[in-house]
Amino acid sequence: MSIKKISKVQPELFEFTNENLEKANIEIKKYPKDRKASAVLALLYLVQNQNDNWIPLSGIKYVASLLGMSYIKVYEVATFYSMFNLSPVGKYFVQVCTTTPCMIRGAKKIIDSCKKNISQNQNELSENKLCSWTEVECLGACVNAPMMQINQDYFEDLNETRVDEIIQQLLRDEFPSPGSAKNRKNNAPENGKTTLIDIKNA
Ligand code: FES
Repeated sequence: MSIKKISKVQPELFEFTNENLEKANIEIKKYPKDRKASAVLALLYLVQNQNDNWIPLSGIKYVASLLGMSYIKVYEVATFYSMFNLSPVGKYFVQVCTTTPCMIRGAKKIIDSCKKNISQNQNELSENKLCSWTEVECLGACVNAPMMQINQDYFEDLNETRVDEIIQQLLRDEFPSPGSAKNRKNNAPENGKTTLIDIKNA
């Protein structure tokens, strides 16, 4: 589990754009007036989207004031969930799953590739500032382990060679094709079988 790193450099103020304020109000109206706090995840996500994929402390304060919550309660939420970044990340943000199924299937090699190609430590930008990486807990694609998420896309059934290729593409400012490195469709069997009937003694 990675430790949340809070950026030392912080903007003083954060406010939603008009468009995001409208979206925030739509989220808030989904809940009873005395349960506005239920919109906290949606609002933090909007802050992150507006602020180059990370949430400044001023964004946490802003959400707290919009929802009538204490700053510390919103801070607790923002620091708990791994989808929220509290310091700047690269244009290409690589999240490597290191929970048991992925670890058994080779996640350590993905981490080694990130260290070699992006930065020695997680949550640091690559030299050209385009990429950063971090370890995360299960991303719900265990059947296609090992896997990693880059921005909004999943890259699955990975091996060392494919991970090196993917990261090199990112460093050239190109976005690689997501999905299975073994060309599996979703999590269908590798050889195209759809039933167990053809397998002897299945
Ligand atoms: S353990 Fe890696 S996706 Fe579930």
